[in-house]
Amino acid sequence: MTPAPEPQAAPRRSDIPRVGDKQDKAESVQRMFASIAPRYDLLNRVLSLGVDKSWRRAAAREALLLSPTTLLDVATGTGDFALELKRRSPETQVTASDFVPQMLDIGRRKAQARHLEISFEEGDALKLPYPDASFESLTCAFGFRNFADYQRGLAEFWRVLTPGGRLVILEFPPPAEGVFGRVFRFYFRQVLPRIGALISGNAGAYTYLPESVLAFPDPARLARMMHATGFRTRVQLLTFGIAAVHVGTKLA
Ligand SMILES: C[S@@+](CC[C@H](N)C(=O)[O-])C[C@H]1O[C@@H](n2cnc3c(N)ncnc32)[C@H](O)[C@@H]1O
Repeated sequence: MTPAPEPQAAPRRSDIPRVGDKQDKAESVQRMFASIAPRYDLLNRVLSLGVDKSWRRAAAREALLLSPTTLLDVATGTGDFALELKRRSPETQVTASDFVPQMLDIGRRKAQARHLEISFEEGDALKLPYPDASFESLTCAFGFRNFADYQRGLAEFWRVLTPGGRLVILEFPPPAEGVFGRVFRFYFRQVLPRIGALISGNAGAYTYLPESVLAFPDPARLARMMHATGFRTRVQLLTFGIAAVHVGTKLA
């Protein structure tokens, strides 16, 4: 049995990665995910009340629409999205990449247990270790927000995709204005960090989560950034706009 995490003191600001674009945060993001890796899956289910599975299903449908033969799941973490993609499309060759080995190890074990053949490979999303035009589809679920440079990430996605290839980014946009947005902000800022700290033992990680979402570009701005990189874009909001699926097609 996994021992319960030690109770922690309030996080120091220096332990929490910076939020937003063009930030020097790669190492602190790596440290944070390495520390929460063993509890990451449980926290996902609890904090999203299980709805994250339906978001991944919606994004997977988009990523597999053109029956790709090769697919790269960037910032795969513990591999839940890669597993969903491989389960739905066994004939697609799925590569799952992340820069935190502790997250990849968990993904690898889950794939083995489910007899799903996925190649888990270490790699930085901002410097992907693959030649140009290597994949027909590229996915990134809840990882993009953590990148130190969004434009660089998009440029790397564009580079490794084949012409006409499909990009699917699943992310949390900042909550919209209005009553639902206010309720959600309250949950995000006051409730989620407490539950996250309790289960993960890392209070900083679950302070960072809401702050990074609030600092993230809204769907229209992210769509413009994708378009400027060379993608035809479309966005679908899920569950009252809590999550968004951005679909891009690489223009040849
Ligand atoms: C919130 S988790 C998402 C994991 C998974 N995609 C999911 O849907 O559960 C974010 C992941 O992004 C990874 N990540 C963040 N920045 C990265 C980068 N520059 N290169 C590779 N992985 C990165 C982290 O290591 C972490 O595993």
